[in-house]
Amino acid sequence: MRVLIAAPELLRRVAELAALVDADYRLAGAGGGSPRPPADPLVAVGVLKGSVFFLADLLKHLTVPVAVDFLQTASYGSGGATRGEVRIRKDLDLSIQGRDVLLVEDIVDTGFTVRTILDLLRFRGARSVRLCALLDKVAARQVEVPIDYRGFVVENAFVVGYGLDHDERHRNLPYIAVWEPEIDAGTAAAAERSASAMQTHHTDRAPAAIGPYSQAVAVDGWLYTSGQVGIDPTSGELVSGGFEAQARQVLENLRQVLASAGCGFANVVKATVFMVDLADFPRLNALYGEAMGDHRPARSTVQVAALPKGALVEIDFVARLPGQLS
Ligand code: IMP
Repeated sequence: MRVLIAAPELLRRVAELAALVDADYRLAGAGGGSPRPPADPLVAVGVLKGSVFFLADLLKHLTVPVAVDFLQTASYGSGGATRGEVRIRKDLDLSIQGRDVLLVEDIVDTGFTVRTILDLLRFRGARSVRLCALLDKVAARQVEVPIDYRGFVVENAFVVGYGLDHDERHRNLPYIAVWEPEIDAGTAAAAERSASAMQTHHTDRAPAAIGPYSQAVAVDGWLYTSGQVGIDPTSGELVSGGFEAQARQVLENLRQVLASAGCGFANVVKATVFMVDLADFPRLNALYGEAMGDHRPARSTVQVAALPKGALVEIDFVARLPGQLS
């Protein structure tokens, strides 16, 4: 989800709005001159459920006497004859007759909801009624609504978080984000499992992997072999006969490892060759060319200071698993 308003920004703005409200309601009555008595609290009315987080944070900053109440609305629909009709699902518990009322709403979208509530609160004989809305989706407005305290203007997208939901989800996000459909959790987990499913391959026809590694690993249709040196799998020792004998053994070991995963040299897409002495390169190239035939995988060749067991050459491959070649 794309974060639209981060949590610190939200809280900072809520504190600013609270300071404005506090200053405006410090004194009682319309043009009242005396500090608001506890017997004449500001009545903050939250619209369930979306405004709950906003209302709670806002009120924590207020120093004026304040009473809290809630109402809940339900809209009949967005089209046809019932378009814009809003009914009260849960009414106020408190009487607002002669009170200063602050309607606290999460978001003003078309404006139908707050328009209806503001009319109702006035009809109930409130002394004054003002609107405090955290978010103003101006571009979606269909009926005019005066917003006395506005948190943020937001783009015309469906937003969630900090009380706002999509199908009762995401209210608990501490920030406001643009809602995006989620991939079902089960599908996501399965995709992750198959992407990260790593299959190790082993053959007794190549030197055993002695240590925390595998002869080869298959993942996502690719086979990665460990580096092979000229060790005879039967004796576990480097073959005698110098560079050429070692190079032959390296290629034989790799052939067996590839075969254990159903691959051959034709599946190899990349080779890395490590040599202690690059002067041996022409001999290596001849043997390598013999093994590969017409196949020409990418290759890197580097000279290194030393190889395990005093070997003169080591090679590893990346191969495409059968069925994945196109
Ligand atoms: P209005 O009557 O179209 O202004 O809609 C107001 C109500 O619709 C708000 O109190 C929200 O409950 C809901 N609403 C409107 N837009 C959004 C949104 O983007 N995300 C979540 N709820 C929304």
